[in-house]
Amino acid sequence: MMQTIQLFVPTFRVEECLAEIRECLEKGWTGLGFKTVQFEEAWKAYTGLTHAHFVNSATAGLHLAVRLLKEQNGWQAGDEIISTPLTFVSTNHAILYEHLKPVFADVDEYLCLDPASVLARLTPQTRAVMFVGLGGNTGRYEEIVSLCRERGLKLILDASHMAGTRVHGQHVGSEADVTVFSFQAVKNLPTADSGMVCFAEAALDAEVRKWTWMGINKDTYSRTTGGGAYKWYYDVEHVGFKDHSNSVMAALALVSLKYLDPDNAYRRQVAAWYDALLASEPRIERIPVAPGCESARHLYQVMVDRRDEVMLALNEQQIYPGVHYRDNTVYKMYAYAQGTCPRSQRASDRLISLPMHLRLTHADVQRVCQALKDIVARVSIK
Ligand SMILES: Cc1ncc(COP(=O)(O)O)c(C=O)c1O
Repeated sequence: MMQTIQLFVPTFRVEECLAEIRECLEKGWTGLGFKTVQFEEAWKAYTGLTHAHFVNSATAGLHLAVRLLKEQNGWQAGDEIISTPLTFVSTNHAILYEHLKPVFADVDEYLCLDPASVLARLTPQTRAVMFVGLGGNTGRYEEIVSLCRERGLKLILDASHMAGTRVHGQHVGSEADVTVFSFQAVKNLPTADSGMVCFAEAALDAEVRKWTWMGINKDTYSRTTGGGAYKWYYDVEHVGFKDHSNSVMAALALVSLKYLDPDNAYRRQVAAWYDALLASEPRIERIPVAPGCESARHLYQVMVDRRDEVMLALNEQQIYPGVHYRDNTVYKMYAYAQGTCPRSQRASDRLISLPMHLRLTHADVQRVCQALKDIVARVSIK
């Protein structure tokens, strides 16, 4: 019986995770505060980012990013944010939650936003750019940073795939107005569901903490641990959400963070094996990593013709890759932009994410590559 090779298999250091969770249970504190505070501090120390607020998902973080920038800058319904069509829909839904308009620019050879295409999509209504570091790659992010600064546009970095990505030795994020990470179940820093929203400005970091807790201006943990009289009084400043995360997620995150750099180094090793083994097959198009980028390698993507046939044939050999992503303009709700991003459209029909996780051995990667090369050769002569 052939062993199954899955796209993603998260690795949890079970005993360490249980010890961290046990601490929450014994203390009687599983909610917001305690471990969430520890994890926010640990994340800031790791990334060098000035602010970090632990939320229940990157989706929530992206929504809050758009909302707070909109409020701060007086954006109006219908104002535009330039974004990529090659992403998980959360990125673009976050713009629509706030009644702003996602305007799609095309991607480049790194499958990230192409600055030339962004320039071509600017209008007097453009307020911000939403950049996604697909698979952990930084693409032409630095050019996008300059473009936004020169034009007074806000920059939101969807770093869902970028936990641990560095560019020229520095963690990404400090250049953006807000950076959002995902710690969802299969991400590089896996929890079950959670994320981090990191604003550059202290005032927005203070503000977002109220938004994630119903608009209440003092969280329960501060009220419990802080001194002062009348700590049972608080004010509710606006209709907020229940978007914060909790100590059980933070317990998992604190353990995963200890291993993030060595884990990402192993992912880069797996990627190097794929690169070496696939280099001889020109029908398998590999995606370059941008110069100066130390990618977190959330994904290892290739492009092939007749992708769906290739995927099904791989499945027959117990190999289960994925697709990240279909061009969002193929979906009904984003169809208004169909045909505007030819490079994304081409990628959408050809992309395959090959298995990428810490349990893969060199022999597994060899098996995937051999199967892929055989299948691609076979379907090309059909
Ligand atoms: C690029 C991108 N943005 C946003 C998200 C949303 O992350 P979460 O599941 O933490 O809400 C994901 C998750 O898959 C993603 O891949």
